[in-house]
Amino acid sequence: MSPLSADDLPLLLNTVNEVRAWTAEAKRRGERIGFVPTMGALHEGHLSLVRASRAQCDRTVVSIYVNPSQFAPHEDFGRYPRTLESDLRQLADVAEAVFVPNDAEIYPPGFATWVEPFGPAEPLEGERRPGHFRGVATIVLKLFQIVAPDVAYFGQKDFQQLRVIEQMRDDFHLPVEIRRCPIVREPDGLAMSSRNRYLSAEGRRSATVLFRALETAAHLVSQGERSAAAIEAAVRAVLLSAAGAEIDYAALVDPLHLRPVERIVAPTLCALAVRIENTRLIDNMLLEPPN
Ligand code: PAF
Repeated sequence: MSPLSADDLPLLLNTVNEVRAWTAEAKRRGERIGFVPTMGALHEGHLSLVRASRAQCDRTVVSIYVNPSQFAPHEDFGRYPRTLESDLRQLADVAEAVFVPNDAEIYPPGFATWVEPFGPAEPLEGERRPGHFRGVATIVLKLFQIVAPDVAYFGQKDFQQLRVIEQMRDDFHLPVEIRRCPIVREPDGLAMSSRNRYLSAEGRRSATVLFRALETAAHLVSQGERSAAAIEAAVRAVLLSAAGAEIDYAALVDPLHLRPVERIVAPTLCALAVRIENTRLIDNMLLEPPN
């Protein structure tokens, strides 16, 4: 890999004050700011958000911060991939600025205020990962306060996270537009995720089962099946056909509150969390019954 010259790279901002000054300057010029929060280890899924922002806004800022407060002690915070140099390379030419704070900048000594989300934060991930959405909502609110974007971009792979952030935006009257962006998949259907790199070749093959299970659900709905229990049973059977797949949840829920539905009579989210080789993968698909 050839060394990067400073000219190719987006502007690197490390402190809250640097970001505020950059944003203030852009706003003085009347520019619309698009924001893509990430934890780094960037892949095409993230880049699709950055490109959407670039197409729709005058300036794009990306944050890269592996937020410790959204990981439980037994989770993968320690081994979460940190690939800053390759991330910056991928952002060359697509983002104007990248905010890469350290922990002291975000959680200085004495930090004591948290956002505790309820509603869409409670089921599914909320039940299995207590405290996760508290960490997510807190960091996202902080980032919104620091960057003050006009528009923020989030991928639908983390559908529940998106709903939690939309709810927080509404509840706190945050002056930011949230844009939902489609899931980006590998050619074999696996949803792109920074955690896919934990999988062995065999695990990677097994991981395609999530998409196959979602396609099964969509197919059944297109054929007229309306019973959530019947669809869930079919989804579980597909998931269990893959070597080493352990189902954490496979649920049919309404896409606003993420609560279980019995009949598929309106758009319904099929949400999956499956462990393969101890890597927890999530995926989802909106099932739309034809009128
Ligand atoms: O989706 C993610 O990468 C993270 O949860 C986010 C939104 C950047 C907050 O840390």
